[in-house]
Amino acid sequence: MTLKKINPTKTKSWKKLKTHFKEIENEEIKNLLSSRPSNEDFNLKWNDFNVNISKNRIDNTTLNLLIELANECDLKDAISKQFNGDSINETEKRAVLHTAVRTDGNEKINFNGLDIVPSILETRKQIKSFTNDVISGELKGHTGKSFTDIVNIGIGGSDLGPVMIVEALKHYSSGLKPHFVSNVDGDHVLETIKSLNPETTLFIIVSKTFTTQETISNANTIKEWLVSKLDKNAISKHFAAVSTNVSEIKKFGINSKMVFSMNDWVGGRFSLWSSVGLSISLAIGYDNFRKLLSGAHKMDKHFQKTEFKNNIPVILALLSVWYNNFFKCETEAVIPYTQYLNRLPAYLQQAIMESNGKSVDRSGKVVEYQTGNIIWGDTGTNSQHAFFQLIHQGTKLIPCDFIGFKKPLFKENTQHNKLMSNFFAQTEALMTGKSEKTVVDELKKSGLNESEINLLKTFKVFKGNRPTNTFLINQLTPESLGSLVAMYEHKIFVQGIIWNIYSYDQWGVELGKQLASKVLKEIEDQKISNHDSSTNSLLKTYLSNQ
Ligand code: F6P
Repeated sequence: MTLKKINPTKTKSWKKLKTHFKEIENEEIKNLLSSRPSNEDFNLKWNDFNVNISKNRIDNTTLNLLIELANECDLKDAISKQFNGDSINETEKRAVLHTAVRTDGNEKINFNGLDIVPSILETRKQIKSFTNDVISGELKGHTGKSFTDIVNIGIGGSDLGPVMIVEALKHYSSGLKPHFVSNVDGDHVLETIKSLNPETTLFIIVSKTFTTQETISNANTIKEWLVSKLDKNAISKHFAAVSTNVSEIKKFGINSKMVFSMNDWVGGRFSLWSSVGLSISLAIGYDNFRKLLSGAHKMDKHFQKTEFKNNIPVILALLSVWYNNFFKCETEAVIPYTQYLNRLPAYLQQAIMESNGKSVDRSGKVVEYQTGNIIWGDTGTNSQHAFFQLIHQGTKLIPCDFIGFKKPLFKENTQHNKLMSNFFAQTEALMTGKSEKTVVDELKKSGLNESEINLLKTFKVFKGNRPTNTFLINQLTPESLGSLVAMYEHKIFVQGIIWNIYSYDQWGVELGKQLASKVLKEIEDQKISNHDSSTNSLLKTYLSNQ
């Protein structure tokens, strides 16, 4: 069964939200906060997650109307269709079952009349034994040495998820040193391998299609390098592959025991939980990989079973719709207060923008409202010294997610309170701002005269009223990270349902790819064909310098 096609702007709740928006548009968060009879509904508690949404430009009516909108868009029906394996990725005729690969194994998940859980568990077993063999040193390279380094070769979903998780959980390292090669930029791959010992390095080619230009080019460059350093027979010992394209894997020379399958019901950007996460399992050990899956599975159950008013991904998605479609915010920032999560914004950029960057609705009509927002961010406190100026005093309204942890990972870490005081202070400052009166009082105290104060005061005022969500989680563990990432995945899905778009295809990446292969041929043949005058002249300049 396919998803319903409901234009959100034609619903009764959308109209009510429009009227309600006028009432709340100029309200101050700090006043809304103090006028609420209770902030209970604005603090969602789940496992070791505390999701505080109280610093938002909303009141109880906003929340109720947004939930009404979710009901009118029949979100409940969409959730059950996704989890039931219906073909909700209609333009690619595929089911969307990345949630199935993180099953706890105690359920049946039917797809096309078949329970897919046994085959998921079988693949997991293969990941486990391969991981254990590599980490223990039982599996050896061509010259009989154990592996010390692993290189993930993939791009997009075959890179961003694994690299983000491996970076986030490096505290839990198995001892193997992970590397990631993604860009078709030859310098990227050559820079990565130049310090590697071919005898002790294992390469994992991750490509659902095994045809992606970047991945196959990098794999071939590495293959040539390996053969030149060792010999041809080394290929079968030093390469593993994760793909659906069995014939191409064989042609490459990969040993069938080192091949991990994928299913077309797991989309690239949602695939880190599947065998695409092999590099994660190798880098942090299978047990930790399993905990990551378990955290995600728990969030799946929360999402599936919790009423909307307490459902974290649902509420986050609705708030995002509120800012995107009513306040006309174009971007959202994600600011994790841990350096380990420095790749989270980049990962979320693909997950969110490749999913919801669509302008045609599920009926094939061009939408007349805004859809997918722009995601960006960096870790706190680094970002405070970079782009926070604009968030505090710029002309744009940028809702932010602040992600922080109660406990650091190192017992010896004596700086955690300093980090977290910034975390709390920033959301408070963004909300309260600083009035002209306070500024003037401060300047008077510092000894400035009246004319100096008049010159300076406007620059020092903070309007405040900047919305934030605060995520306070116990500790960064494989399990809590799994829950956090799954939370964002479900948020994406809910937004796509409300916006009446297809979140699981990505036709927008095709045009550039097609053109690039045409241009490449022209560059290689040194023959520029009919492009526009701008592109023609750039290509001629490029060729003239070769
Ligand atoms: O960027 C487009 C895309 O199709 C992503 O969705 C996918 O994750 C990536 O390319 C890589 O594709 P593959 O795994 O087939 O190499």
